[in-house]
Amino acid sequence: MSDQPIVQIDALSKSYPVTAGRRIEILKGIELTLTDGDSLAVVGASGIGKSTLLQILGTLDRPDSGRMFFRGIDVFKLNHDRLAKFRNQSVGFVFQFHHLLAEFTAIENVMMPVLISGEHRDQAHVKAIQILERVGLGHRLEHRVTDLSGGEQQRVALARALILRPALLLADEPTGNLDKSTGRQIHKLLLELNQEMQMTIVIVTHNPDLAALMARRITIVDGALVELN
Ligand SMILES: Nc1ncnc2c1ncn2[C@@H]1O[C@H](COP(=O)(O)OP(=O)(O)OP(=O)(O)O)[C@@H](O)[C@H]1O
Ligand SMILES: [Mg+2]
Repeated sequence: MSDQPIVQIDALSKSYPVTAGRRIEILKGIELTLTDGDSLAVVGASGIGKSTLLQILGTLDRPDSGRMFFRGIDVFKLNHDRLAKFRNQSVGFVFQFHHLLAEFTAIENVMMPVLISGEHRDQAHVKAIQILERVGLGHRLEHRVTDLSGGEQQRVALARALILRPALLLADEPTGNLDKSTGRQIHKLLLELNQEMQMTIVIVTHNPDLAALMARRITIVDGALVELN
């Protein structure tokens, strides 16, 4: 941990091309600071830019202008390899559509970030079992992900995002496909990890119960971030 904020966004803008010569501005000069152990819900109507913000926070997309510092490091200035390494080691991402590797089993999917980080296969295997048990999938380790239910696939995606204990967890509707009781278990797990290891969490959600569990709630109005209550 350090005294630098984990994330600091400064005058950041993002637009997309719509037709030749015309762009829509989604984020207009936003500012955002996240500290260790912060938890933030991003809420609001479809199409306002929630996933866009999350993709930029995860460095999966680049802004048109503005800067983002991760513990003081200007991340979009890093070269390709250093940015990939930063992403692997510091950020866990649960996508709106889970992006699992269909031809692999649950445990193989979850081991992947550990193998990419260069750790030994045996170590990856042990860690993957632990985290899959924690999301309630200890009995589905060797299932191919295509044979899992939607909610199970989403929990595999969550386990994959959490396995390296990232400093920053980004989740886009992580419990959208889950029944109420499984959803609640996952919410509880997220809060435990947030408190246990001061993992900073940013969650896009339409679920008011989940949003209420976060320390802060923001929405996006005409491209500007608005902090709620
Ligand atoms: N690659 C792209 N090219 C053009 N327009 C895009 C692109 N990605 C997103 N958009 C547009 O930008 C706007 C914001 O999209 P975004 O996915 O961030 O919305 P959202 O708030 O996450 O919505 P939802 O709740 O439906 O997931 C939308 O109007 C979308 O159509
Ligand atoms: Mg979205």
